[in-house]
Amino acid sequence: TPRVFSGIQPSGNLHLGNYLGALKRFVDMQGPEFQTVYCMVDLHAITTWQDPKDLAHSTRELCAGFIAAGIDPEHSILFNQSQVPEHAQLAWVFNCVARMGWMQRMTQWKDKAGKNQQNASLGLFAYPSLMAADILIYHATHVPVGDDQKQHLELTRDIAIKFNNDFGVDFFPITEPVIEGTATRVMSLRDGSKKMSKSDTSDMSRINMTDDADAIAKKIRKAKTDPDALPSEIDGLEDRPEARNLVNIYAALNDQTAEQVLADVGGKQFGDFKPMLAELAVEKLSPISSEMARLMGEEAEIDQILARGAERARTIASPILQKTYEIVGMVGAG
Ligand code: TYM
Repeated sequence: TPRVFSGIQPSGNLHLGNYLGALKRFVDMQGPEFQTVYCMVDLHAITTWQDPKDLAHSTRELCAGFIAAGIDPEHSILFNQSQVPEHAQLAWVFNCVARMGWMQRMTQWKDKAGKNQQNASLGLFAYPSLMAADILIYHATHVPVGDDQKQHLELTRDIAIKFNNDFGVDFFPITEPVIEGTATRVMSLRDGSKKMSKSDTSDMSRINMTDDADAIAKKIRKAKTDPDALPSEIDGLEDRPEARNLVNIYAALNDQTAEQVLADVGGKQFGDFKPMLAELAVEKLSPISSEMARLMGEEAEIDQILARGAERARTIASPILQKTYEIVGMVGAG
């Protein structure tokens, strides 16, 4: 069976964009068709400073979020990256395959490092190489992500191709990005030109998965919009980024297309549409946040799930690393 891999950083503020663009889709891919492997990428999180207490809390909270959203830890393999050392070990090999120029072109590197690149961590620069290792250490072929990870997945393909060529093997698969649905890029509720993000200083810009019903309703009520009524056709959303965003969020929460939503709500003013959206969001999200809160009270259970997941992950990752070392010419066990 083909294998799915994806990851989320435990860097706090798991939000609606992560849920609709990634987590909800991870849930949809569980089934007999794929073996699903999902990871809390703590090694990626520390490429920018994380307070140790916050990292531990965010990792457990993210694990609770995965389970509350519908990931079954018996079916899927659910773990945190640092507990499967093969990720970092393969990343080192990939650091020697990938080129500096490839990393320099990454828009996430340019955005996150900002003007003072000399002061960014070396880990932040090598970030995409570790991401390629995350995927390829499982020979995963399908990677569900939001739109912002597209460039990193292209680099993953480039690394697999160059490794295979350099060593004259057909070992690492060429990965398919799975970027589908109406919510591959959920935008800020305050600014339709910026994506919803964990690090936005305005909490009103995003719906956190830990928000309660009142907070969700308030953020939607205050979301930026324009003064016009909603169109009945999708073309009518062009040049209306805030309106398009709210329609897309509605569609994704309700498992509809934007066209289907507009067929129902076209002609309505935001004064009528926003309460509908708030009601839907509360209906879909508050069971997740309350289950997360419950699970966070069961720390030992979470830690046990992560330990068990890491053990299962290693049974796949370890032989692939050994084979990689052998291909490269490293002498040792095996
Ligand atoms: P991260 O932690 O930033 O985000 C986790 C997932 O959420 C998606 N996402 C969004 N989708 C729609 N709208 C948004 N506003 C939005 N914001 C975030 C992201 O696209 C992602 O799918 N580098 C990755 C983590 C990672 C990974 C991997 C992913 C590490 N190794 C291997 C896949 C495979 C990241 O920083 O995601």
